[in-house]
Amino acid sequence: MTDFSSLDLLLEGRRVVICAGPGGVGKTTTSAAIAVGLARRGAKVAVVTIDPARRLADALGVQELGNEPRRVDPDLFDAAGFALQGELWAMMLDSKRTFDDLIERLAPSARVRDEVLGNRIYAELSTAVAGSQEFTAIAKLYELDAEGDYDVVVLDTPPSRNTLDFLEAPRRISGFFQGRAIRLFLRPAGFGGRLLGAGTGAVFGLMKRATGIDLLEDLSVFFRSLSGLVEGFVERARHVEALLSDEATAFVIVTSPEHGAVEEATFLQRRLSDGDLALAAVVVNRVHQADELSQDDAQALADLLGGELAQRVQAASADALALERRDHQGLERLRASLNGAPVLTLPRFDDDVHDAAGLAQVAQRLYAPPGEGVGARTLG
Ligand SMILES: Nc1ncnc2c1ncn2[C@@H]1O[C@H](COP(=O)(O)OP(=O)(O)O)[C@@H](O)[C@H]1O
Ligand SMILES: [Mg+2]
Repeated sequence: MTDFSSLDLLLEGRRVVICAGPGGVGKTTTSAAIAVGLARRGAKVAVVTIDPARRLADALGVQELGNEPRRVDPDLFDAAGFALQGELWAMMLDSKRTFDDLIERLAPSARVRDEVLGNRIYAELSTAVAGSQEFTAIAKLYELDAEGDYDVVVLDTPPSRNTLDFLEAPRRISGFFQGRAIRLFLRPAGFGGRLLGAGTGAVFGLMKRATGIDLLEDLSVFFRSLSGLVEGFVERARHVEALLSDEATAFVIVTSPEHGAVEEATFLQRRLSDGDLALAAVVVNRVHQADELSQDDAQALADLLGGELAQRVQAASADALALERRDHQGLERLRASLNGAPVLTLPRFDDDVHDAAGLAQVAQRLYAPPGEGVGARTLG
């Protein structure tokens, strides 16, 4: 059985598309191709990529500088025979910068803004804890969607070890800002005397004498200025979280047919379903496809190449078939556990997908209308 599904229908009416799934399976590639397909159909689309492969980043013209989407040169797609009726915009997420922007926007005054951004503790915190890509990716998505400049925003997600991290990120972040530790610091009486015992104070004092860095002062200034920001921040985190379950938001799970990836995709699907989050489709990328050699083919090969070479070709073909069979089994296992979610497959291409032509090829398969014949083939 070969059936066809198209992202055209599956993404209809969505303003936000989030590509999630295990690392290394082709999430960034798929996000970009999804955006290309929507732009092909006339939409003005922004894709937020995270750590794209170098060659793809170059092809899309996304750079680390900027942290805002830039229009991708439409000529690239014209040249690939895949003219975009709409507009494709792309950016590479700069996590730290996104977090800084957020602080800037939420700060009640320029003084507070400068105090926080210039603070040593903040610099550490924003890169280490709060500036996690999981949170900033969704924060950026929220911002782009709220500004309303695009018909659709497509988000690639960070290559985290845990696929679910980014779903939890907004709550973790607001939890942090509302948590016990930070409330202690924010108490009017201050923490200098009460929270930190005399011993700790002495350590800070020693450090100041040795290094000239007054961490205690930094800490106290930081938390004082931060207190004006907490409410706005927590509120924002709530909005960001709400966007995940907005009816105009759809998830696309990207995975591969390999065992571990299938497990993770299944797990993610359950988590989305438990959280009432909309799953538009599961894209299974890099599926091996092979054509079985018929008796006639084998004979023709032997005639053409002679015995030994023909045998080697046949062996290679058998290997490819074994891989296809393995992938097929992975796919069946996935399908059986997905409760009927639409599954689209993409073949493993000979070369990686790094330019407009490659993205066009992927987009074409994802969006092919039923029956067109080049659709994402579902092995079965
Ligand atoms: N179907 C495919 N066939 C061949 N190469 C692919 C395919 N999908 C992705 N790639 C390549 O695999 C590499 C990793 O893909 P990427 O999208 O960056 O994965 P992820 O974002 O999940 O880490 C890239 O070099 C990409 O071009
Ligand atoms: Mg990636």
